Amino acid sequence: MAKDSADPKSSVPAYDGPPDYRLVGQHDVFPQVTHDEAERFNYLAHMNRHLAARVLPGVKAAFEQRIAPKAGDGFKSRHDVRKALLKDPAFQTWSALRRATMEQRQQAGRWVTLRQGEALTARARELTEGDGRLQLEPSFTVPNYLTAVDHHCMPGSYHGEIVEGDVTGPANYDCGIFATTGGALGRYNDGGGHAVVAWLKKHLPDFQPKRILDLGCGLGHNVLPIAQAFPDAEVIAVDSGAPMLRYGLARAKSLGINNVTFIQANAEDLSRFADESFDWVQTTMFLHETSRSAMGRIFAESRRVLKPGGIVLHVEQPQYAEDMPLFEQAIRDWDAFYNNEPFWTTMHEIDLDDLMIKAGFKPGSAIHGGVAAVVDTTLFPSAGDDKVEDYGRKAAWELIGAKKEAA
Ligand SMILES: C[S@@+](CC[C@H](N)C(=O)[O-])C[C@H]1O[C@@H](n2cnc3c(N)ncnc32)[C@H](O)[C@@H]1O
Repeated sequence: MAKDSADPKSSVPAYDGPPDYRLVGQHDVFPQVTHDEAERFNYLAHMNRHLAARVLPGVKAAFEQRIAPKAGDGFKSRHDVRKALLKDPAFQTWSALRRATMEQRQQAGRWVTLRQGEALTARARELTEGDGRLQLEPSFTVPNYLTAVDHHCMPGSYHGEIVEGDVTGPANYDCGIFATTGGALGRYNDGGGHAVVAWLKKHLPDFQPKRILDLGCGLGHNVLPIAQAFPDAEVIAVDSGAPMLRYGLARAKSLGINNVTFIQANAEDLSRFADESFDWVQTTMFLHETSRSAMGRIFAESRRVLKPGGIVLHVEQPQYAEDMPLFEQAIRDWDAFYNNEPFWTTMHEIDLDDLMIKAGFKPGSAIHGGVAAVVDTTLFPSAGDDKVEDYGRKAAWELIGAKKEAA
């Protein structure tokens, strides 16, 4: 990591730049990149870091010095703040550049994966064909909250397929997430999963799950560390996107992790699983991709499939608590308005404890914690120690859950 040589008189702290893209971990379905493609990802990672570390503080100063003083009796909500920010050139510059880096990151990754699409698809087929740990439903209907937009500008979102057996979507997600997060998720972009395992071992050291259900597993970044930490457990990873699951099993196998079954299903309807059949239901960066009504059903289904004494844990960016400044809330809301994350704004204002109680969990059963990505800090940045805040991308999350009452 290159240390930025900040002006000693500046009020903005020096910051570490992202590591080199070539440190990202390879596996058998990971797309190969040329020198120029790697440098494009490096450029985008640095640009995102620069926007968070150097440009966003300018937006904050503009808000404090020229926007807020004009607000009369103050702002009532994050939406008022966002509308005021929209008229200011500092916000306009940061927002336009942030959107541009996201569009560029998607196009860069899309090109990398399309040009080797046939080889990637063939490799994934070779690794998964006939393997019962991949269970796809050809007649599956992807929920409309997922088909309505291309999430975070990702062409085809999580489910799009151009050819039969396509894995170019998840391959793009896998190779390009480095540029968005500046390497903060670690070598295999799995720092969130390692963080959850570390939290669990510290706070519930006697918990030895035998069956684990991960909902909205994506391509499996964060469920694999869980499967590795509990090698004797049966792990079921569910997602609605067939390409994600195909790539997920191929990737898991090539990384030598063999206790995960990838199943295509809607997390709102887990009827294929018996009541009280899992010790642990996990979701990571998943709830914000769903919808208000879907979340109620997901919570109820999670409770139904949990064994007495089992736990559910959700990892997400922080909720908009009353003590979170409205400026921070407005910036965190950026993804909802300018990054194709339509449910983000509502999801982050919902009282999740209350929703879990409505889904049947008992009052007092709530679990709360905070986790930051666990990565090899000799090579990758430590989110826990990072003073730069970009309000939405930092690899540090809230952990919200509940324990099902014992029988
Ligand atoms: C941001 S990704 C997170 C992936 C993964 N949990 C991780 O930590 O890398 C969200 C995933 O949730 C999936 N998803 C959204 N709604 C779903 C639903 N109702 N049922 C199953 N999967 C869903 C999407 O297809 C996508 O792969």
